[in-house]
Amino acid sequence: MKNYIWIAITLFCFFDAAGQDKKWWRATVVYQIYPQSFKDADGDGIGDLKGITQKIDYLHQLGVETIWINPFYKSPGLDNGYDIADYLAIDPQYGTMADFDALLAGLKKRKMHLIMDMVLNHTSSEHEWFRQGSSSRQSPFHDFYIWQKGNRDSLPNNWPSIFGGSAWTWNEQTREYYLHMFLDKQPDLNWDNPLVRQSLYKMMRFWLDKGVDGFRLDAISLISKNKSFPPMDLSKGIFAALNGNVNNGPHLHRYLHEMNDQVLRKYNVFTVGEVYTDKDSAWQYVAPARNEISAIHFFDGLWLSGKTTGIPFKNTMDGWNTALSGKQSWNTVILTNHDYPRAVSRIGNDSMYRVESAKMLGAFLLTYRGTPFIFQGEELGMTNYPFNNISEIKDVTAHTGFAALQQQGMSDSAAFVVIAMTTRDNARTPIQWDASPNAGFTTAEKPWLSVNPDFTNINAASQQADTMSVLHFYARLIALRKANPVLIYGDFEDKSPKDPSLYVYTRTLKTKQWQIVLNMTATEVDYTVPTTGKLVLSSYGKKGQNDAPSVLRPYEARIYRLH
Ligand code: NOJ
Repeated sequence: MKNYIWIAITLFCFFDAAGQDKKWWRATVVYQIYPQSFKDADGDGIGDLKGITQKIDYLHQLGVETIWINPFYKSPGLDNGYDIADYLAIDPQYGTMADFDALLAGLKKRKMHLIMDMVLNHTSSEHEWFRQGSSSRQSPFHDFYIWQKGNRDSLPNNWPSIFGGSAWTWNEQTREYYLHMFLDKQPDLNWDNPLVRQSLYKMMRFWLDKGVDGFRLDAISLISKNKSFPPMDLSKGIFAALNGNVNNGPHLHRYLHEMNDQVLRKYNVFTVGEVYTDKDSAWQYVAPARNEISAIHFFDGLWLSGKTTGIPFKNTMDGWNTALSGKQSWNTVILTNHDYPRAVSRIGNDSMYRVESAKMLGAFLLTYRGTPFIFQGEELGMTNYPFNNISEIKDVTAHTGFAALQQQGMSDSAAFVVIAMTTRDNARTPIQWDASPNAGFTTAEKPWLSVNPDFTNINAASQQADTMSVLHFYARLIALRKANPVLIYGDFEDKSPKDPSLYVYTRTLKTKQWQIVLNMTATEVDYTVPTTGKLVLSSYGKKGQNDAPSVLRPYEARIYRLH
């Protein structure tokens, strides 16, 4: 009898009455750190691990419980660390393994989690595996990569690299082509070789045994290739062409399942995949019964821009929510990361309503169903950089993109406008800590990438002192979410699918129901306050709401408790 009671109690702890699986990563709020640009502790102009450790209290006070850090492994840095030369070493620009251990210990002390960025689709061409594998066809590492025989003047097929140009590069030493879906210095690994998989799993266990809480799996939908290498139909765009051949390839799900079986299931970890897929097949990655990965980042949301606020925004988010809404299925909520322009500049309104629209987007991020991902600086309403010249941009894809536009016949100035608006460097500028030189990011004369000149106006120190700031609003939202399971596990319902201006939705858990109202526009919109509603939080302040309860000011966000 006693045993049954214990079993019942244990089950209740993991599954509440609504059947929601209470894994820690469903309730957490993730904060993404781009290490180059977070905080420079050693004064060389580049952010580092010690800098992150110095700022743990900032993150803790904000209320985030999990951090995801972009790659800081040893790397030549041609794609800012996504070209790994040694998976088991820290790149000296970020510090040492002792610095890593200190950071992890600092996080654990505050009961926080660490997610590492894990790049399993490719390595750097400077990785020992590729150095040896590319030197001779007889090397045991040759089959770690994907090769095609041929001659220098004719490519094996028309497969494109996602970063532009062909996916094939000639290797003189073996007189073959190797495949790379990104830069030519990022050769793709051959996942069909069991030794490759075992080597990667072993390396993953090294980090998990250290106490890491999971991985963001870079480009994970690309790991399995169609080895008959058929020509691609590129007329419908690159992602349509890659699908089935490179993306969502033939053995992808078998390999993810194997990785789960041999590594992940042995630890209580969170894995979030960077996955290019449509919403109808997304469940194949995350359905718990399939034992693959925990969640994915979906691109339809990240590709949204200002022009699409209102109905397209809601349709995209709701569509994904429905697709991943079964009781045991889960989603992430993400508006931007290090590969996209700043959310407030792209979807919000950084010219007239920066603070208001940043708060509205924050309210969406933290009240929607799914694990929220905040990208560093989003909590300050940081904006895109006012680039004046292509030479100010470091992002390698901005330069290949610029050259491609020129080739298509675009003038330099027109091409520059496109690149300046879309470059990944918009999101990668240093965090604006205060109004001192270089925004308090570094004591070096020059940071690796320029600080946005708006730092005297937008910075953490001034927002800490202002209770109406974007930063304070984020902290309130996170605290509210943490204290109210209805905002985490509650069922979602869109109450305004046809409304072009307002996004009104409810979250319902057992007897509790909350209503979130977002004005997605720069104009005032009439709104009928729910009769049973009690206002819990408004982006304009609770007091302001009483002045005009039935009008939502530009970009206003309100949260009501209905029952
Ligand atoms: C996706 C990462 O987010 C991006 O920054 C990187 O360039 C590519 N994958 C290649 O690893």
